[in-house]
Amino acid sequence: MAAQSKIKASELIDAGDDDAVELAKRHLLQPWPYAGSVGNEARALIGEGHGIYITDASGKRLIDGPAGMWCINVGHRREELAKVMYDQAMALSYNTPWYTMNAPSAELARRIADAAPGDLSHTFFTTGGSSAVETALRFMQFYNNVRGRPEKKLILSRGGAYHGSTYLSASLNGRPRDRDWMDGADDLVVKLSSPDPFRRPKEMSIAAFIDFLVDQFRDTVARVGAERIGAFVGEPVQASGGVIVPPDGYLKRIREICRENDILYVSDEVVTGFGRLGHIFASGDVFGIDPDMITFAKGVTSGYFPLGGVIISERLLEELRRSNHPDALFGHGLTYTSHPIGCAVALKNLDLLEEGVLAHTREIAAYFQARLKTLEELPLVGEVRGVGLMACVECVADRDSKDPLQLDKNVGKRIDVHCHELGLLVRPLINMCVMSPPLIISREQVDDMVAILREGISRTMDDLRKEGVWRG
Ligand SMILES: Cc1ncc(COP(=O)(O)O)c(C=O)c1O
Repeated sequence: MAAQSKIKASELIDAGDDDAVELAKRHLLQPWPYAGSVGNEARALIGEGHGIYITDASGKRLIDGPAGMWCINVGHRREELAKVMYDQAMALSYNTPWYTMNAPSAELARRIADAAPGDLSHTFFTTGGSSAVETALRFMQFYNNVRGRPEKKLILSRGGAYHGSTYLSASLNGRPRDRDWMDGADDLVVKLSSPDPFRRPKEMSIAAFIDFLVDQFRDTVARVGAERIGAFVGEPVQASGGVIVPPDGYLKRIREICRENDILYVSDEVVTGFGRLGHIFASGDVFGIDPDMITFAKGVTSGYFPLGGVIISERLLEELRRSNHPDALFGHGLTYTSHPIGCAVALKNLDLLEEGVLAHTREIAAYFQARLKTLEELPLVGEVRGVGLMACVECVADRDSKDPLQLDKNVGKRIDVHCHELGLLVRPLINMCVMSPPLIISREQVDDMVAILREGISRTMDDLRKEGVWRG
């Protein structure tokens, strides 16, 4: 198990820790708050990061199990990245993208085009994942307007999906709870089932499950009308929905139906892009599909700078250039589109990925998955699933019925609390714990992580038994 080392809080933290907690409670709005505690909440205060570790305000060192929010791909405190950001800021900290440009963004766009599948050739840079998805959808609307198909705007999305927190991207979200109290552009979105093999009907084979999903997709297109559907947006692996790995061959079949019906396929690689599955992009290299657009963010800078983007197919751009409306304006751009510091750090991050981190990820992924799989020995664990360096431990009250612990939705949180004590930060999601550590994790560190998780789950089982919530 990881050494419970207490390392000195750094001089990097200026404000006293107590001050930060008090100030946050009085003035800071946290993301995804509940009404009952909004504006009055402090979360675990993190002072430092180094490699795969972060250190909390008490000096406790924790394995960064979720790599921030699936983003610290090459690890914390990489001097190369810090230096490149400093150098770029000293050379040119910002330029307006409205009527000027910078070299790092052009170079990054070229390298992304080289790594992207099919004819994806041009990148529009954004400030993160939500703005990348939003850009892809606004581009689809513009594209169909210019082509004289203004009615072709509906978007297909799936249960379990997470695509962001701007209005249109959030309207695609399909996770339970996300939309309960929130409005959305529901008239623009058509929802399909999640491709979650774990939750398929008991008697259904995987092959029959794929047929069901594909038939549902085809039937929906027929019912709604292909002439009204502009795009399908899907994560190759549904990440925040609980690391839902799609059954083999399903994505290829969906891609074909999109092609046949002139529906743009938008592959949301905000999590899977830039290394998480051992490749720059998973769409082509892992799943064998060539989307019309790929959205990315997070790992593109390993979280060192807020940057995202959408890569667009040459075919679509060529159609626009040849259309009857050369004066049609794509009225879309962000102050920080093509930010020079973001693009410079992304270039260096790409070097690090290509010079060893991708190969390491491909090498260690099987070990990571196999070690985590051993947690299925614990009776509270219904399934451990994953691919590359992303995995989910899903707890169930009863393996047969797969009851996701309806009695107590806080099982993930309970495990997280124990693991924090033991030196591991996990990402709790209702009854699930998601693990997606920095890609530089070693075998020994995987062992530490799994040992702590095992102990955290065991302690949670004890608590649940004592409280009479669970009898496993
Ligand atoms: C697949 C996917 N798309 C989009 C987003 C939104 O990205 P951001 O939070 O950077 O806006 C996320 C965030 O987790 C995501 O997982």
